[in-house]
Amino acid sequence: MLDEQAKKTMLRKIPHGLYICGVKNEEEVNGFTASWLMQASFQPPLIVNCVKQNSISHQMIKSSGVFAISFLENGQKDLAQKFFKPMRQVGNKFEDVEFYLGETGCPIISDSLGYVECNVVDGVEKGDHTVYVGEVIASGVHREGKQLLLETTGWNYGG
Ligand SMILES: Cc1cc2nc3c(=O)[nH]c(=O)nc-3n(C[C@H](O)[C@H](O)[C@H](O)COP(=O)(O)O)c2cc1C
Repeated sequence: MLDEQAKKTMLRKIPHGLYICGVKNEEEVNGFTASWLMQASFQPPLIVNCVKQNSISHQMIKSSGVFAISFLENGQKDLAQKFFKPMRQVGNKFEDVEFYLGETGCPIISDSLGYVECNVVDGVEKGDHTVYVGEVIASGVHREGKQLLLETTGWNYGG
């Protein structure tokens, strides 16, 4: 039998960074705070990005087949907080955030450590998040710095 409390305690011990995943469709761009992300292959360079199925970003990734990951710096909790609100409630999250469009057309946060851009090459739609497998097709470093880690924010996403 699954011990719910133990499962929650242990799954919350998986370390995560915090990122802004930039997405697009034909008309607009969006982004959301992401943490369930990791490298999955050296060659070709693959990452996995687990995306909540009922978010607008999920629809946008599914239809465009691309996403961009901006790496936040330690201290950029305010940006992470802005982007975990749903677009359906708050509208354009990029209104007062400087960004540019990458090769994929997805938004990249200018004030971030850097980015990777991905083409979606596969996806596993099980449970409440889809595991998108992205091949890294472009990348850039904006500046040196320590990345923002979930554990330093006092928030939880997991369990
Ligand atoms: C700390 C934290 C980490 C999160 N990590 C993820 C994640 O890895 N994947 C995901 O789909 N949503 C994650 N979310 C939730 C999304 O940021 C949230 O659902 C967002 O509103 C989606 O934006 P959208 O509705 O504009 O697409 C996280 C939220 C928080 C607070």
